[in-house]
Amino acid sequence: MAAPAKSVKRVLITGATGFLGGHLLAVAPEHWTLVAGLRDWEKAEEWGGMEMDLADPLSWRKRLFDLAPDAILHAAALADTGACEKDPDQSFQINVKATEALAKYAGSRGIPFVFCSTDLVFDGTAAPYAPQAAPTPVNVYGRHKAEAEEAVRREHPGATIARLPLMYGASANPKRGLIGGLRTGLIAGRPMTLFHDEYRTAAHALRVAEGLWAWLLAAASGEHRSGTWHFGGPQRLSRYAMALEVAQTWDLDASAVRPVAQASVNTGSPRPADVSLDSSATVDQGWKHGSLDEELAAIKGAD
Ligand SMILES: NC(=O)c1ccc[n+]([C@@H]2O[C@H](COP(=O)([O-])OP(=O)(O)OC[C@H]3O[C@@H](n4cnc5c(N)ncnc54)[C@H](OP(=O)(O)O)[C@@H]3O)[C@@H](O)[C@H]2O)c1
Repeated sequence: MAAPAKSVKRVLITGATGFLGGHLLAVAPEHWTLVAGLRDWEKAEEWGGMEMDLADPLSWRKRLFDLAPDAILHAAALADTGACEKDPDQSFQINVKATEALAKYAGSRGIPFVFCSTDLVFDGTAAPYAPQAAPTPVNVYGRHKAEAEEAVRREHPGATIARLPLMYGASANPKRGLIGGLRTGLIAGRPMTLFHDEYRTAAHALRVAEGLWAWLLAAASGEHRSGTWHFGGPQRLSRYAMALEVAQTWDLDASAVRPVAQASVNTGSPRPADVSLDSSATVDQGWKHGSLDEELAAIKGAD
């Protein structure tokens, strides 16, 4: 990651070390300098980024003003629903207060701000959800993301709120991640129980990353990108259905995969049944979301 140069536009990106962050870095615009906001100073030194523990917004306030970024892409979060349920105070600090602080800064400077929210702001009883649908969260993570959205709207009416779905894609460990994990399990013939009645409009993280950059760059060039946008994939799928598609793609035996009902499993936090997103407005605006078939074929081709 290059050191910031004055003449080049700089974007502060949070969450660069995360799953989505890896994909955001992979398709980052070449003509912008990226500065990663990172949790600890060692990593910040290593990456040439900015130390920024989101759990402690006051600690990085001055550094943010000194950096004076030209845009902010805020992808960091406490994104594990179980961890949010266990430690709601930490979730509130990271997911709500830090987002509010970043939105306030961006709003006061009038710079583009893209915030990564989630389909889990919905309760799953009225899918597909349009961007205008009112949040109805059922767990701490969803509630805090919904509160963060409100803070962003209040502090920076020109900001983009991007509601993201369940994402799949390459992970640092190829055996992990949604597709990698399913494929590894299928190859090993490992018994897997997967929800057949919990639906998501899953999308490839690379397509989502491309969309987020496109929205940020469009906002930077003065195009209208404010408000709430949905970045869901084109198909409403259960994890069980996804496993069958993965099995079909690589011609693997799926007999050890057992469909289970969501209600029969205690996952530690309430889970909405169907948070499928209606992303037609985002697609109409030019976002290309690949179908699961296309993405699996591409992953297979790259093997
Ligand atoms: N993955 C999905 O399917 C999905 C679905 C819907 C929405 N989203 C949203 O998309 C965004 C990215 O998700 P993800 O899957 O990439 O999450 P992830 O893999 O869990 O990564 C989270 C990122 O946030 C950073 N972070 C966490 N706490 C921090 C703190 N206190 N200070 C600074 N950075 C901190 C992490 O840094 P460290 O490396 O230091 O921990 C990491 O870079 C999140 O906003 C999430 O809510 C994700």
